Amino acid sequence: MWKRMKQAILIGLTIFNCWLFFRFFYIETETFKAPSKECNLEAWYLQNNSASNSFMPSIFSFGKQTYFDKRAKALENMKIVFRPQPSGSKVDPWYYHHHVPYQHSFKKVINEPTLCSQHEKVFLLYAVRTIYDHFDRREVLRNIFSNIPEDSCAKGVPIKHLFLFGKPNNSTIESLIQKESEMYHDILLEDFKESYVNVSIKAIMAWKYSVEFCANAEYVAVMNDEAFIDLNRIVSWLGHDLSKGKYDDHFALCYRIGDSPALHKHIKQFTYLDEEILYRGDFYPPYCHGFGYIAPINVINKLYLAALQNAYYMPTDVWIGVLAEMLNINIINHEHQYIFTGVLKHYASGKYQKSPTIVAICDFENLKSETGKLMRQLYQVIYN
Ligand SMILES: *[C@@H]1O[C@H](CO)[C@@H](O)[C@H](O)[C@H]1NC(C)=O
Ligand SMILES: *[C@@H]1O[C@H](CO)[C@@H](O)[C@H](O)[C@H]1NC(C)=O
Ligand SMILES: *[C@@H]1O[C@H](CO)[C@@H](O)[C@H](O)[C@H]1NC(C)=O
Ligand SMILES: *[C@@H]1O[C@H](CO)[C@@H](O)[C@H](O)[C@H]1NC(C)=O
Repeated sequence: MWKRMKQAILIGLTIFNCWLFFRFFYIETETFKAPSKECNLEAWYLQNNSASNSFMPSIFSFGKQTYFDKRAKALENMKIVFRPQPSGSKVDPWYYHHHVPYQHSFKKVINEPTLCSQHEKVFLLYAVRTIYDHFDRREVLRNIFSNIPEDSCAKGVPIKHLFLFGKPNNSTIESLIQKESEMYHDILLEDFKESYVNVSIKAIMAWKYSVEFCANAEYVAVMNDEAFIDLNRIVSWLGHDLSKGKYDDHFALCYRIGDSPALHKHIKQFTYLDEEILYRGDFYPPYCHGFGYIAPINVINKLYLAALQNAYYMPTDVWIGVLAEMLNINIINHEHQYIFTGVLKHYASGKYQKSPTIVAICDFENLKSETGKLMRQLYQVIYN
């Protein structure tokens, strides 16, 4: 018994040390120095003038192509390369040797084909995984996107949001979603079964829509509906990211986890799933936590193309981490931009002024039924 305990403690200490080592010496962590009032959008506006030739050599621009068409063409012509497994990689080597094709051809039951193309350029497409019951969360998010304060960095910047649905098993609910769509025109619903396991399909759905219908976007966010955002800071943060001039090699916002032993085999939600749909390795690569990430559209396009050659498995975020590693997409850690606990206190006190937080995850310490309420309270604090 004692021997077992000693062993356990030893293992614990080793893991802790590794964690310390990686945390302080290895992981590239990026923080915002101070939540400044700077919007950092100069670089983006500057691109206006050169937009017509900065992404494609002029030899391809026949006649009068719109900016949208040019970007769409550039994405279409993009080639992806899977690198050989790098040393130190924790991904099960099987994935480097077996690329399993996947076809995403679900019918779009509800679509918003002109959401982005009605603008010349879109700064951010913000796609939200949601289910019908979460109307209260969507309401808060819609308020964030529609009532932008005059002094916000997001004011006047083309930002589009979209709620992602699978097909519910209940036709009453489907017609309610249809009604909501007619009211807000911010819903995408594809003909696959709405279910927890199908969140990977939702990720692909978001990527595919971005590439096909929102090619003129700079950034794409794929977030859960429990994520409450400070849009002012997100725009400022992304403006800063854009000014670095790297459009296709990193996530712009990511809560980095993984780089650890595989845990899903011990988690109840996963134990009754088929083996084939589960990650087969014993170790996870680094990956962005599933509650949400933001990436330049070129990165989204790469992930989409990679998904068509590497059929998804669970956990979804691990699968995306594997794709990212194969594509050599950097997973920088932006953990300080997220908050989970003591959220309301954090935002209410002067602490928030000095905090870099731009996303609050609102279902972490509460019952799921309280999430909408907490989001409403945060909205009152920040936006009023
Ligand atoms: C860039 O384009 C956007 C809309 O396409 C416009 O609102 C903005 O004023 C332009 N900026 C510059 C510097 O031309
Ligand atoms: C419909 O889906 C919900 C959850 O999405 C589930 O709880 C319910 O059992 C399903 N009903 C039927 C009839 O399949
Ligand atoms: C479908 O959803 C409606 C509204 O929530 C509910 O009243 C109804 O009982 C559901 N029908 C089935 C078959 O689950
Ligand atoms: C996911 O969606 C597909 C397509 O509708 C369906 O066949 C499958 O049963 C769904 N998976 C789960 C676990 O619900």
